[in-house]
Amino acid sequence: MSDDTSKMAREHAVQRCRERGIVIPTIAEMRQPTTVPSAIRRKLPEVDMQAVDPVNLFRITWHNDPATGGFGPVNALEIPAALTGVRARIVGLVGKHFPTGAHKVGAAFGCLVPRLVAGEFDPTTQKAVWPSTGNYCRGGAFDSALLGCKAVAILPEGMSRERFDWLASIGAEIIATPGCESNVKEIFDACWDIRKNQPLAVIFNQFEEFGNYLWHYGVTGPAAEEAFHALAGPRARLAAWVGATGSAGTLAAGDYLKDVAPGCTITVAEALQCPTLLATGFGNHRIEGIGDKHVPWIHNARNTDLVAAIDDEATMRLLRVFNERAGREALLRRGVPYDLVNQLPLLGISSICNLLAAIKTARHFELDGSDFVLTCFTDSAALYQTRLAELTAERGEYTDRQAEADIERFLCGATTDHLKELTYPDRKALHNLKYFTWVEQQGKTVKELDALWSPGFWRDLQAQLPGWDAAIETFNRDTGVSAEPSERR
Ligand SMILES: Cc1ncc(COP(=O)(O)O)c(C=O)c1O
Repeated sequence: MSDDTSKMAREHAVQRCRERGIVIPTIAEMRQPTTVPSAIRRKLPEVDMQAVDPVNLFRITWHNDPATGGFGPVNALEIPAALTGVRARIVGLVGKHFPTGAHKVGAAFGCLVPRLVAGEFDPTTQKAVWPSTGNYCRGGAFDSALLGCKAVAILPEGMSRERFDWLASIGAEIIATPGCESNVKEIFDACWDIRKNQPLAVIFNQFEEFGNYLWHYGVTGPAAEEAFHALAGPRARLAAWVGATGSAGTLAAGDYLKDVAPGCTITVAEALQCPTLLATGFGNHRIEGIGDKHVPWIHNARNTDLVAAIDDEATMRLLRVFNERAGREALLRRGVPYDLVNQLPLLGISSICNLLAAIKTARHFELDGSDFVLTCFTDSAALYQTRLAELTAERGEYTDRQAEADIERFLCGATTDHLKELTYPDRKALHNLKYFTWVEQQGKTVKELDALWSPGFWRDLQAQLPGWDAAIETFNRDTGVSAEPSERR
């Protein structure tokens, strides 16, 4: 974009936000919503969380309190030893209480907003394109609707019905690419088509956009730290961050935790049926949200300590255990507290994958009761009701006997198989794997790839966050709709 075009794009964006009364939250406010202007905090309880109302931009935070509609402590759920079988304290940040019911709405914000406020995206003439395996494009469509931009969602045709229905309801244009979860190459091909044929489309490719990384570094990481401090006793140690990789954005929270808690390790989970990181493998799988057969550009591979491949059959069986009557009763008989059993539907399929990878991490490093393993329950079972119905149709009603067998085999039997602790050359091999997707196919240079190996690259990136907030604050001042400016920091 030339300087003039960029200036005009920014003016259009300011005008659009002024007309619609849009105030954009800063990263600092998302991290700590007690700093959100009180006029906005007062308004939130009156607005439905899913409403296309710009005030919901302030709900892009881990602090939403579903009971009051306001803000509270970080949403987190501890899964105790009665269920995990390990002494380590496993705690997952809960994504369900974000608008759209999934945390990816934050990653989409991180990709769109810095460009919007810098004049790199004109919401009055351009379309925002969201390539995704499901939740990111829903988040992008939601953020676009709040900010008054047109959205195009790209996702594989095999993703859950709930995702397509929701996208249609919000008015997004939908492009369904061939295949299932692990067909990310087909998504990239659709992006190239758009680049060639639609000059007014801007592609926010989460797999390469550092805005995705930075949103998680600046918001999810501190939320995990806060959840840890809320539960930690005097001898507690933040031992690990566990995250399944789709775009690798959520892994950035692990980079943040390594900075504040030296010694913290990062486990990256993937599907055993598509073990790209474990074995340069490929294949189809059913853990929705974790796209595969490549290493995302924004994955800081040098920081990855452990790779855990999780059998998708384990995640589907446990989805039934956590949501079917027979499964819940079996857990109660085993002494899992009633309150916790009621909360297990907060875990969607990839959240169950993260839970299993957390158990494996705890077993591998022989963690004890003072060690905390933090992870992310990215979305909830609410998005997989059709999958549960399909399982019943395929396999019959879920029985007590089946529930007991699944708990024994897939929870109690979660051991250290399909794990790899990475050496320095292993990490470099993951980094090198980026070459085939990004340099050969997607137009990056070897020089750019080499730069990603340097820890200094990631430091410089992280140092951009205060600049983001300054640009958002200036933008809000220019629109003139900032609520209670004296309260804003
Ligand atoms: C349900 C679900 N789980 C996990 C992920 C992976 O998160 P990330 O893309 O940050 O690696 C996604 C990403 O879309 C998702 O939708």
